[in-house]
Amino acid sequence: MLREDVACVAARDPAANGTLEVLMTYPGVHAIIWHRLANRLWRARLRFAARFLSWFARAVTHVDIHPAATIGRRFFIDHGAGVVIGETAEIGDDVTLYHGVTLGGTSWAPGKRHPTLEDGVLVGCGAKILGPITVGKGARIGANSVVVDAVPPMMTVVGIPGRIVRAPAERRRVSGRIDLDHHLMPDPVGEAICELLDRIDFLEARLAHRDGRAPHCPDFIPEEAVHEPA
Ligand SMILES: CC(C)(COP(=O)(O)OP(=O)(O)OC[C@H]1O[C@@H](n2cnc3c(N)ncnc32)[C@H](O)[C@@H]1OP(=O)(O)O)[C@@H](O)C(=O)NCCC(=O)NCCS
Repeated sequence: MLREDVACVAARDPAANGTLEVLMTYPGVHAIIWHRLANRLWRARLRFAARFLSWFARAVTHVDIHPAATIGRRFFIDHGAGVVIGETAEIGDDVTLYHGVTLGGTSWAPGKRHPTLEDGVLVGCGAKILGPITVGKGARIGANSVVVDAVPPMMTVVGIPGRIVRAPAERRRVSGRIDLDHHLMPDPVGEAICELLDRIDFLEARLAHRDGRAPHCPDFIPEEAVHEPA
């Protein structure tokens, strides 16, 4: 596992120059090595030793991983600093975190209170994922996002609170002329423009209807458009 943890860095960081450099100078790699050992101690019920090792790793790397956290294979924390991973966090294989990521809890009640990240998730720098939610396979969390709801697989989420920015085709909102709904972020200006375009289409169609001539944009104005939009 440790060999895989080191080897996966080359594929995910173009700045990496060989195994020795990664092994000696990457705090994120040091953090996962210490965590693998601390987790062993934790599972062997050597709780104080595990906590002490985690504390030491944190002092050296600025990455705070609770020894009970479950972390899969080929895990990579780029830059290391400021990462916090809580006790009941579960992380799948091939997950990448950047600096400043928190996988945190939202309750003081014992039990599962930290997120689950499925295989292949990428979490951008400064993002916070809070609560016992699941981030689905291959999902990507934007830098500085705050995610408090489950994320379906393969989605990209950005913002505070985190919103999915890739709209499935059936949810796209298209004005008479222009597709303004290229993502699911709240966009009041886009909505206002969409309504204005619909209104212009309606007025043009009504004028054309009154004058008995072809509408200006026949491709986009169906017969029903001569009725006022809601
Ligand atoms: C979220 C992320 C993975 C999306 O990448 P992508 O799939 O290429 O998506 P795009 O860049 O096309 O962005 C999609 C939309 O989300 C917006 N967006 C992207 N990242 C965002 C972020 N962190 N916060 C807010 N909005 C963001 C873009 O402006 C774009 O909006 P638009 O459609 O209105 O133009 C990427 O932006 C990101 O944050 N990666 C983390 C990288 C990182 O932490 N690097 C640290 C290196 S040290």
